[in-house]
Amino acid sequence: MTVNIFEVGARDGLQNEPHVSTQDKVTLINELAQAGVRRIEAASFVSPKWVPQMADSATVMDQIERNPSVQYSALTPNLKGLEAALAADVDEIAIFGSASEAFSQKNINCSIEESIARFKPVIELAKQHNLPVRGYVSCVLGCPYEGEIAVSEVVRVTELLHTMGCYEVSLGDTIGVGTPKKALQMLQAVSQSVSIDKLALHFHDTYGQALANIQACLETGVSVFDSSVSGLGGCPYAKGASGNLATEDLVYMLHGMGLDTGINIEKLSQAGNKICKALGKSNASKVAQAILTH
Ligand code: HMG
Ligand code: MG
Repeated sequence: MTVNIFEVGARDGLQNEPHVSTQDKVTLINELAQAGVRRIEAASFVSPKWVPQMADSATVMDQIERNPSVQYSALTPNLKGLEAALAADVDEIAIFGSASEAFSQKNINCSIEESIARFKPVIELAKQHNLPVRGYVSCVLGCPYEGEIAVSEVVRVTELLHTMGCYEVSLGDTIGVGTPKKALQMLQAVSQSVSIDKLALHFHDTYGQALANIQACLETGVSVFDSSVSGLGGCPYAKGASGNLATEDLVYMLHGMGLDTGINIEKLSQAGNKICKALGKSNASKVAQAILTH
């Protein structure tokens, strides 16, 4: 059985890093593709006033070697972002909403209902350009401002994004507070309304639960997982959130379970190590550390 890794390191991972050169981003994205990663979130066309770290997204898209078997994706919060994404010739875009009112306000400066209204023309224009649209729902297992989030709200927002035309909706544990049983119950509830093959899991690893959460959720048949090489990252509007689950750790576990990802774990680990060195950070992936020291 094949599972799908959606690599978010170059976006979710680097959107929080104050000093990273465009060249280092380009090298990372190229090396991820060479390691066999087939879905790469490479850019984020958000306001540079909000996230200055992503202001070079157009240059990054222009400078990477475009591997024809890779889907290069970008975040687009509004029409302005979509126009920039179209000019940069991305392969798909992502809109990002939230199951938490407070997080929606802090992250995209509008309510959940306003965000849905704002996403509609983005999806319509993207469809006119045959651009697939992915959706994110943040705070599915907790919010940095509101705490507990009702599962019914996660179901409602996911259903809305799906009905509006997102071909896949990624469920984000933005601050990594989820635990396996809760994660499974949330996914089971959402999959009553949106079929499991249209859902992805996006777990940050702040409390070290992400791998356990994914393992618990596998029984539902979910097969798309967002992760970040060497566990890079966090969200500028979710203080304390660490990076996503490290892709190396996820790939190692999935391969050990007989699930194919198409990814070469040695090459992946080297790509992660290179960007960590450029950032002056230690590699948060235990698997990468083990592979690179043996
Ligand atoms: P706003 O201030 O309400 O928007 O921000 P605005 O329309 O009033 O525009 C303000 C200024 O930004 C204007 O410039 C616009 O032109 C400009 P000025 O006239 O003042 O010179 N602007 C833009 N510039 C470039 N590209 C654009 C764009 N839009 C406006 N697309 C807005 C609203 C949504 C734009 C803002 O809040 C924003 O950019 N937020 C993004 C925050 C963000 O990137 N967060 C991290 C990503 S989400 C995440 O990490 C979670 C996820 O990983 C899942 C999970 O873990 O849960 C996906
Ligand atoms: Mg995230």
